[in-house]
Parts: sequence; structure tokens; C-alpha cells
Amino acid sequence: MSHLSLPFESRYWPVKKLFDVYERSIREPEEFWAEQARQLDWFKTWSKVLEWEPPFARWFVGGQLNASYICVDRHVKTWRKSKVAIYWEGEPGDVRVLSYSTLYSEVNKFASILRSAGVTKGDRVALYLPMIPELPIFMLACARLGAIHTVIFSGFSAQALADRINDIEAKLLVTADGGFRRGKVVPLKEIADDAVALSPSVEKTIVVRRTGKPVAMKQSRDFWLQDLLEKAAPFVEPVPVESNHPLYILYTSGTTGKPKGIVHSTGGYLVQNYCAYKWAFDLKEESVYWCTADVGWVTGHSSIVYAPLAHGAAIVLYEGAPDYPSLDRWWNIIEKYGVTIFYTSPTAIRMFMRYGEDWSKRHDLSSLELLGSVGESINPEAWLWYYQHIGGERCPIVDTWWQTETGGIMISPTPGIECVPLKPGSATFPLPGVDAAVVNESGELVNPEERGLLVIRKPWPGMLLGIYGNPERYKEAYWSRFPGMFYTGDYAIKDKDGYFWILGRADEVLKIAGHRIGTAELEDAAVSHPQVAEAAVVSKADPIKGESIVVFAILNEGSTPSVSLKKELTDHMRRMVGPIATPDEIYFVSKLPKTRSGKIMRRVLKAVANDATIGDLTTLEDEASVEEIVRAYQELKKAEEEAK
Ligand code: WTA
Repeated sequence: MSHLSLPFESRYWPVKKLFDVYERSIREPEEFWAEQARQLDWFKTWSKVLEWEPPFARWFVGGQLNASYICVDRHVKTWRKSKVAIYWEGEPGDVRVLSYSTLYSEVNKFASILRSAGVTKGDRVALYLPMIPELPIFMLACARLGAIHTVIFSGFSAQALADRINDIEAKLLVTADGGFRRGKVVPLKEIADDAVALSPSVEKTIVVRRTGKPVAMKQSRDFWLQDLLEKAAPFVEPVPVESNHPLYILYTSGTTGKPKGIVHSTGGYLVQNYCAYKWAFDLKEESVYWCTADVGWVTGHSSIVYAPLAHGAAIVLYEGAPDYPSLDRWWNIIEKYGVTIFYTSPTAIRMFMRYGEDWSKRHDLSSLELLGSVGESINPEAWLWYYQHIGGERCPIVDTWWQTETGGIMISPTPGIECVPLKPGSATFPLPGVDAAVVNESGELVNPEERGLLVIRKPWPGMLLGIYGNPERYKEAYWSRFPGMFYTGDYAIKDKDGYFWILGRADEVLKIAGHRIGTAELEDAAVSHPQVAEAAVVSKADPIKGESIVVFAILNEGSTPSVSLKKELTDHMRRMVGPIATPDEIYFVSKLPKTRSGKIMRRVLKAVANDATIGDLTTLEDEASVEEIVRAYQELKKAEEEAK
């Protein structure tokens, strides 16, 4: 087996059946993936399974399919026609239940509306919507026409929305009159209007009525969905697209610069996700699957829309906050809809853990069969709490490691094939077809238990097609560090049993409550404040959110630090990016530690913010600035404590 350079040897593989599947997937990847792909409905079969011109991979070349056909049409030809596709619950408690038959007619009508608005194959459509059924319906309607959707998380600001619309030059934006969040209305249309003012490509907007609150509508640009539906056609032929036609673009943060538009294919992406959710979650048509992520993140794309609907399962979609109106809202939803598979983030679990198990005890959670975790490493305490108090010591926990770029789950237990013995905090083993490894700075495999960088050594079907409009950045970000290997940006170790443990980001990407955001975007937002000359952002360990944002800012000449300026800067960053950019701490300093080449040493700032030792400072340009930062930090801490 050694000639195959498997990421672990069979003696470390605790279950035989899974090892056999895995071993074959690495030995004969093309045969293996072709077999998997045959489970989906193709209008035309592929001529080549994989075309690998490093670093660009094209899967199922020449094959033709349509994502909305796979997620909807093929179910209405079976008994699933009358079964539930979506259980939706709004934050105020309103409920909508959509069968596959209803979903089918809605997707067709929405596609007809898009077509009438001039959307055709290859056009980009921006979706800025709350968590309402119209969001997945519009995604599927875009896919039906071969149009490419870009969902922008409804927590993002006008500027962040405009940046994304401008990058893809979207002609059409879909939004809503608002959405409910913690009892308040998020004014999405207002934000969208501010964004459209900065986005010349947008010709039309479609507005969904959700809250009923009055909003300004611009004549011949803004149209109410409800009005358009009256004239919509009941059927639109799904447009067959080649397997490598983009299904969607989703923006995510990288090490530097503006967010990257990650482009995913149709065929490879769907095959990867169809398989991954079967393997990791044992997903079936009878499952009631609830992923609590927002559709605006990759987790929502795969886990709320494409994987469960491709399987004909029922999904739960919930609009609002987890603790609204009380801390048992989620447990109430699980009981009410008989959720069988529940997928959430370690941040959420830690939050519930803090309030104790009385809230979950009020509900019958016996429908649950399997629990999942995603977005950040799960600490063993949270894992155990989740296992005991939510899963009733009955449900395996699948800790799934993946990324926006990977398109689907890459490392995870696979109870759908055979479940390995679980170790709380470890994502366990790579999924079939995923050649994951841990290497040192020179790209050599590290020893067991040694920390290194996580890489993927072979292309996989869900792999991103590239970064929208920027092939050079794609090569640079993922393939330049270790030639021939996809660089994930994560630290990891493989223990002596071959289990993978993910140890967090090795780059300047932060994970705030599992949400991915780059220091560069936060720093840009901070320095765009008129009184800020320079800023550096680092993260601080947070017991609930995993990480929180700490800003070190140098003010312009003549500006004086004050509590009100801190508040102003906080509001400014929220306005520029959105509420996820809220800093936990802001420190006004007069210098930032830099290398001799002028790069900010975030490592030093991070150590200061986390009360850790600073380490090697030999490359510092001016060591005095470190002392200054330490002093400033300590003084501010003291002042803050005194103020309490
Ligand atoms: C982190 C989210 C540890 C990791 C699907 C990765 C995880 C980044 C896990 C991608 C996990 C995701 N254990 N860390 N199970 N899952 N991560 O693109 O740092 O929003 O690189 O995709 O989340 O975040 P993204």
C-alpha cells in the first residue's frame, strides 16, 4: 500500500469497510468518482472524468446536467412529489411548509421571472435575502437558467454588498423589504439601495415582501416579487449546462486584499456534495435535516440547499436568532419538526452550554439521530456537552472540516459508510477521494503528533474552479506555497492513530463565531475612518466565539483617543462591513510593530492581546514599539478594570 502514499496506513484505520472504500478512491479516483457521479441525473454523460491541468481541474468534462433538475424535477417524478422539501419558520413564529411539488412550481415561476428580467445562461445574479424560502428558490431558479448566483450574507453592509456586486457586474439584485432578527427588522432594502448607488451594473432589483414595512421603490428599477408572480409562467425548461459551468460564486476572505469570489462548478460540486452528505450524515430522503448556518456562507449553500435537496430530504430553514424569544428556540424547532440530523457550530454549542441544559431538557429531542459540527475546531468540553445534552448519548457527532474553496466536506467521520471510533475534537479521517496530508514548511510530511500545514494532494470534484476573474490570485493563494498541493491555510496534526486534528488558521484569516473574515478587510474598514491613520487587526481567544476582534489603531495628528472615538470607530466598522466586524477591544497606540520590510507583525500584537509571550523579535524594525504596545495594552486594561 505504501506506493500509493495514503495519508495513513491500514493499521491505523480502525474500520475495515471504510478503509476499503477509501483505498480504492485513491487508487482508482476516476473510476471511483465516475461511479458516484452516475447516481445523479445527467442529460448527457461525460466524455472524460477528469482533466487535470494543474492547478485547474475540470470534472466530468462534456457531461450535461442542471442543478435545479437534480434538486427538484427528479423528485416530482417519484413519491417524493408530495413529501416535504422545506419546513420554514420565521422568527416571529410564522410557518410555511413546502412539498417538492410546491417547490417545483415555485422554482419554475421564479425562473420565468428571472428570464423575463433578461437573465440568461452565464449571467450573474446577486441575492441579498434573509433566511426565507425565497432564497433557496431563487438559487434554484438561477441554476435552472444556467445563471450564476452570488448570495451575499444578509449581515453584510452596503459597502460589502456593493463590492461583491461590482466584482461580478451583476445586472440583477434580489432583496427583501427586511428580515427579522432578534425581534427587530433588518432594513435590507435600504442597505441594498445604498449598495446599488455604488453599483452601476445593476439594472433591476426584485424585492420580496417579508416584513410588510414600507420601503422606497424606484420606478422602473425596483419590482415587487408578488406583482411579477402574477404574470409568471408555470414551467421553464431547465437549461442543460456543461459540468464545469459555474453554479455559483461565493465571496470569502483570504490573507490579503478584498474578498475572493470562489467559483464552483455544477457537476463536480453536486457529485461531491451528494456523496459527502451521504457518507458523513447518512443523509436519506426520509431525513429531516437542519443546518443552522446562514445560506450566505458555504455551509448554507451545500448543507441547506444543494446536498439535502439533491437527496430529496426535508430541510428546516429558520429565519432568526437562536435565543429569540428564549433560549430554547432551537430545541423547540427540533421537537416540532422531528429533526433527525442537526448541524451547527461550536460557537453556538458553547453559548448554549453557558446557559445550562435546562433549556434543552424542556423538549423531546428523541428524533435526533446524528449531530454535526462545522466552522471551527470543537473543544472536547463542548463536544461532550453536545453529545450528552442534545444527542442524549445516542447520536454520533460528525466534526466536519472543510472550506468555501473545497465546496464540500473533506475530513469527517462517515457513519454513512462506517463510523470510526470518535475522539472529541478530532475531525477523524479524510472522506473517500480526499488525499489530505500534514506537511512542514518545506512540504515534507511531518511525523505523527507534529504540527504542520494541512494540504490536499489530489484534485477532488468539489474543488473550486478558481477565483472569479483572477486566475493568478488563484494560483498564488492555493498552489504556490507547495507546488502540486492545495494549501488550505490551516494548521493540523495527525495523531499516532492517523486521526486529523485541525488547529486553526495559519494565515491572517479570522474565525469569529465560525464566520470567516480577513484582517485586511477589517483593517481597510478601520483606516477608512477619517481619524484613523493606520490600523492592525488581530484576534483574541474568546471562550464562546472562538475568536474576537482586537484593533490597534494609530490616530491622525490632532486626534485624541477617547471612549467616544472608540464607539465611533466600532460603529464605523460595523457600517463598512457589517455586525460581524464589531471589535471587542480597540487600542489607540502611536506605533505598530513592523518587520524591517515594513510588514505589520500581527504575531506580536496577537501575543499582546492574548497575554501570551511574544517570542522571537529579531526581525523587528523598532523593538521599542513592542514595549510601547505592551505598555499601552496594560495601561488600557488597568483603566478598563478601574472603570468597572
Ligand atoms: C475552519 C466553512 C476545525 C478552518 C465550512 C477552515 C474548521 C475554515 C472546521 C473555512 C472543523 C471549518 N474543525 N476548523 N470542523 N470546519 N474550519 O470557508 O479554519 O467559512 O479553513 O468554510 O474554517 O471556513 P469557511
